[in-house]
Amino acid sequence: MEILLLKGLFSVLASCFLGLFYYQHPLVSASGKRSGYKKPNFVIILADDIGWGDLGSNWNLRKDTPHLDKIATEGMRFIDFHSAASTCSPSRASLLTGRLGLRNGVTHNFAVTSVAGLPLNETTLGDVLKEAGYLTAVIGKWHLGHNGPYHPNFRGFDYYLGIPYSHDMGCTDTPGYNLPPCPACPGHTAAMRKHQEDCYPEIALPLFENLTIVQQPVDLTSLAAKYTEKAIQFIQYASQRGHPFFLYIALAHMHVPLTLAEPTWDLPGQDPYGANLREMDALVGRIKDEVDSTAKENTLLWFTGDNGPWAEKCDYAGSVGPYTGRWQTRSGGSSAKQTTWEGGHRVPTLAYWAGKIPANATSPVMLSTLDIFPTLVSLANASLPPNRQFDGMDVSEVLFGRSNKGHQTLFHPNSGAAGKYGEIQALRVDQYKAFYLTGGAKACDGSIGKERRHQPPLIFNLQHDIQEAAPLDIETAEYRAVLPVANKALLDILWNIATDNVSTADYSHDPAVTPCCNPRHLVCRCQLAYSNSFQRC
Ligand SMILES: *[C@@H]1O[C@H](CO)[C@@H](O)[C@H](O)[C@H]1NC(C)=O
Ligand SMILES: *[C@@H]1O[C@H](CO)[C@@H](O)[C@H](O)[C@H]1NC(C)=O
Ligand SMILES: *[C@@H]1O[C@H](CO)[C@@H](O)[C@H](O)[C@H]1NC(C)=O
Ligand SMILES: *[C@@H]1O[C@H](CO)[C@@H](O)[C@H](O)[C@H]1NC(C)=O
Ligand SMILES: *[C@@H]1O[C@H](CO)[C@@H](O)[C@H](O)[C@H]1NC(C)=O
Repeated sequence: MEILLLKGLFSVLASCFLGLFYYQHPLVSASGKRSGYKKPNFVIILADDIGWGDLGSNWNLRKDTPHLDKIATEGMRFIDFHSAASTCSPSRASLLTGRLGLRNGVTHNFAVTSVAGLPLNETTLGDVLKEAGYLTAVIGKWHLGHNGPYHPNFRGFDYYLGIPYSHDMGCTDTPGYNLPPCPACPGHTAAMRKHQEDCYPEIALPLFENLTIVQQPVDLTSLAAKYTEKAIQFIQYASQRGHPFFLYIALAHMHVPLTLAEPTWDLPGQDPYGANLREMDALVGRIKDEVDSTAKENTLLWFTGDNGPWAEKCDYAGSVGPYTGRWQTRSGGSSAKQTTWEGGHRVPTLAYWAGKIPANATSPVMLSTLDIFPTLVSLANASLPPNRQFDGMDVSEVLFGRSNKGHQTLFHPNSGAAGKYGEIQALRVDQYKAFYLTGGAKACDGSIGKERRHQPPLIFNLQHDIQEAAPLDIETAEYRAVLPVANKALLDILWNIATDNVSTADYSHDPAVTPCCNPRHLVCRCQLAYSNSFQRC
C-alpha cells in the first residue's frame, strides 16, 4: 500500500524535479544578476558520533585528520560548539529547523518501522533555501522519517542520495567490524543467527537516490566513494548553471559499523577507528578541494558533528578529548553520546569561507548547531519561517570575526537515556553548567549510571573544571550566584516553549513501512544499477 503510494508520487514528482533542473529558475536568474550580491553556497558536513578529541587540531593525541586540520588553519575552529541534542534524529531535526526537540517534536530516534518523521508543518532549512532560489541536496543519512511525505525529497531537498537511518539499522551483505553479525541472506542456519536479538535479520539497509531504492542491501564499502562522487557532481552541476546551492552531507562516519573501502584494519595491530577517521578526513578533503576549484570565493563550508562518541562501542568509539564527565564515569555510566555531559554534545566544528572567515582562527564563543539555520537564512537574504520561535541565532558576524556574541544560555535536552524524551536536563549559563538530571547511558564496561534527579542542580564551572569532575559546593557564594540564574533560564525557556507553536511527532510503528525495493522478496534484496558488487542470496 504505502510503497505503491510512494511509487505513484514518484512518477508525478520525477517530472517536476527534472523540469526544475533544465529550466532556468526565475528566482535565481533575478538574484544572480543583482549587483554586488551573489547568494553564497553552503556545504554543511555533519559527521556521525564523532568525538571532540578526534580532530588533530582539537586534541593532538590523534593525527588522523590532516585535511580537517588544514581546514582549521584556513578557517575558524570552534572550541565551545554544541550539537542541539545527543542522539541522531533529534540532533538532525534541530539542525534543519533551528528549534529544540520540544518545539519541533523530534525528541528521540525514529526506527525502521516508523510511520512518520519530522512533523510536516515544521519548515526545514532545505524548504527555506529552495524557496530562495537554491538547488538543494542531502547526501547521506536522513533519519527524519522515510515513509511517504517524510522522505527528504518532500522536505526541501531537490536531490537525495543516502540511507534513511543509521547503517547499523538493518543487515547488509558486507557486515562491518562492529556490526551485529546477523546473517544477511535467508537460508543461513540458526547457529549463524545467534545474535539475532541484536539486529534486524530480515531487513536489508536500502540506499535511496531520490525516491528510488537503487541498492539493497547497501554495499557499505563503496558508500563513501558514492557520496563523494555525487557531492562533487552536485557542486559542479549547480555551479555550471549558476545556481546557488545548499549541500547537506550527513556522513555515515564515525558511526559503527566501521567499514572501509580498503579493509586495512583487518590486519593485526591496526586501529579500526583511526583508519575510518582517515577515510572520513580524506572524503572531507575531496569536498573541500572541489569547493576550492569550483566555487571558492562564494562558499561557506561548515563541518560539525551530530553528537559525541558512542562510548559503549569501546574501541570503535571516538575520543571525548578532555571532556571526560568524570562525575558521571566515576560512579558508572557513559558521559558521551545520549548524555548531556560535555562529551555528549560538544562537537568538533570548523567553518571555512575563503576571504570571508578569518584563517587560522580559534573561537571560544558558545554556539550550537541550532545556529546553522538562522545563519544560513540570513546569509541567503531569505526570511525565517513565521509564527514560531527559534533557539538558534544568526552568528554570521561571529564567523566573519567581527563579533564575539554567542549564546549566554544553552539548553541540553535528554536524548533518550534518562528521564522524559526531550526534557531539558542540563543547561549552560556562561561558563557554568547546571544538571537537573544525570545518568542512564551505557559505558564501555557495560555500566549504566543510575538515573538521578538533582534539586538543587549540580553546578560545574567549566572554566576551571572541563572534566565536570567536582560540582560547586552549594554553600559557596559562587553557587548561590549561579543557581537563580540557571533556574530562571530553565523556567523562561519552558514558558517560551509552552507559549510557542510546537509540533508533535508521530512515533507509531508499522512493519509495512519498512523500505523495500521488492515487496515480494523475503528480505528486500534487489539488483539495480549499483548492485553488481554485492553477493546475491
Ligand atoms: C533526482 O532529482 C533531481 C531533481 O530534483 C533530478 O535532476 C535527478 O535527475 C534525479 N536523479 C535521479 C537519479 O533520479
Ligand atoms: C596558526 O596559528 C598558530 C598559533 O596561533 C601558529 O603557531 C601557526 O603557525 C599558524 N598556522 C598558519 C598556517 O598560519
Ligand atoms: C534582500 O531581500 C530584500 C527583500 O526580501 C530585498 O529588498 C533586498 O534587495 C535583498 N538584498 C540583497 C542584497 O539582495
Ligand atoms: C502561532 O501561530 C499563530 C498563527 O497560526 C500566530 O498568530 C502566533 O503569533 C504564533 N505564535 C508564536 C509564538 O509565534
Ligand atoms: C503544527 O501543527 C500543530 C497541529 O495543528 C500545531 O499545534 C502546531 O502549532 C504547528 N506547528 C507550527 C510550527 O506551526
